[in-house]
Amino acid sequence: MITRILSPTLKSISQAARVLRRDGVVGMPTETVYGLAGAAFREEALLRIFSVKERPVFDPLILHLAPQPGASALDQLKALRLMDPASLSQKALDLVDRLTQKLWPGALTLVLPKGSAVPDLATSGLNTVAVRMPRHPVAQALIREAKMPLAAPSANRFGRISPTTARHVFKELGGRIELILDGGPCEIGLESTIVAVNPSGSLTLLRPGGIALNEIKKLAGKKIQLAGKTSGTKAQPAPGMLASHYAPVKPLTVLPAPVQKLKSNAMQLNHRVKTLGLLVFGSAEPARKRLAEITGRKVFCRSLTETGNLKEAAKCLFTALRQVDESKAEVLFSEPCRSEAGIGFAIADRLRRASHPHRTPAIKGISRTAKRKPAKKTKSRRNP
Ligand code: TXA
Ligand code: MG
Repeated sequence: MITRILSPTLKSISQAARVLRRDGVVGMPTETVYGLAGAAFREEALLRIFSVKERPVFDPLILHLAPQPGASALDQLKALRLMDPASLSQKALDLVDRLTQKLWPGALTLVLPKGSAVPDLATSGLNTVAVRMPRHPVAQALIREAKMPLAAPSANRFGRISPTTARHVFKELGGRIELILDGGPCEIGLESTIVAVNPSGSLTLLRPGGIALNEIKKLAGKKIQLAGKTSGTKAQPAPGMLASHYAPVKPLTVLPAPVQKLKSNAMQLNHRVKTLGLLVFGSAEPARKRLAEITGRKVFCRSLTETGNLKEAAKCLFTALRQVDESKAEVLFSEPCRSEAGIGFAIADRLRRASHPHRTPAIKGISRTAKRKPAKKTKSRRNP
């Protein structure tokens, strides 16, 4: 199959909607990452998504809807039978209303009791469904033109780095899908924050992401529980929270400190390793020089932000990770994220998952990220 990257025009959007109406799948830009979109209520289309991505069916999808003038998001969720309002208390319904009024369209995914229109395949048999209203105008235009909600996981092959440009989608899925709408580089660069609204009105964070936890906390006026971390491949309370996701092909280690603070004997590398890849949260050149000096290796370095701006770092993270992965470097390192406040929490989460410990066979004697417990052996290290 030939995959075309099309700039988003009325014509290409209606072409993409036609593909969706006949249960095909297309690459769709969103403000977080590119999605692989298909008709949310059609099993045939959902099966295509799973097979194109090589994604196991135990990993549920996020369903996307577009704003509709004159209707609140909550009304739409009910009218489309995406959610089952009877399974939530009034307190919980009010909370959904408040969060969606303020944060939709945007990088917040809510996990809610599943409505009767949602096929079991979309939720992997769970009785909850993940829903989001993207802010990207092309995503909104496509959903409107298709006249139905769209299921859209990130448009990467299972386990790989999420795509933040149309080119990345092409690299991941070229030859497997008909077309990709090119909406430019994603503004946020990390996936949405996923929060479950429980029947009683309590909130559980299932995945940190593009919207900071504090912002949600402030609006909700309550604490947000953190979902227990899980590993392995079984259906989980927070499916998709596998210990390792977003993984480059080459082993990545998060350094215990910024490069300038590393002791000169901090790293012992396998003698076969000639070139190191490095991601930093400051200027590239001094960090590159310093790591080359203490390791005696060539270093290919990418800066995520020259100025310490974490929003910028989030936006560049997956592109930079791809660049070091595609460079000559045999093993990859990243400085730890400077702060875990705001978007820093999600950046640190992605780096942790991209650097699953037993993927670093070529490195000896380097301490890993603080506080990481040794992970159990898992068969899978995947980004759904
Ligand atoms: O920003 C995003 O959310 C992007 C764009 C394309 O919208 N989508 C995305 O989808 O990241 P995906 O499939 O890569 O990640 C969806 C996550 C998975 O980890 C999945 O396990 C979780 O959402 N999820 C979906 N339904 C769920 C449910 N009912 N309960 C708990 N987690 C759920
Ligand atoms: Mg994903």
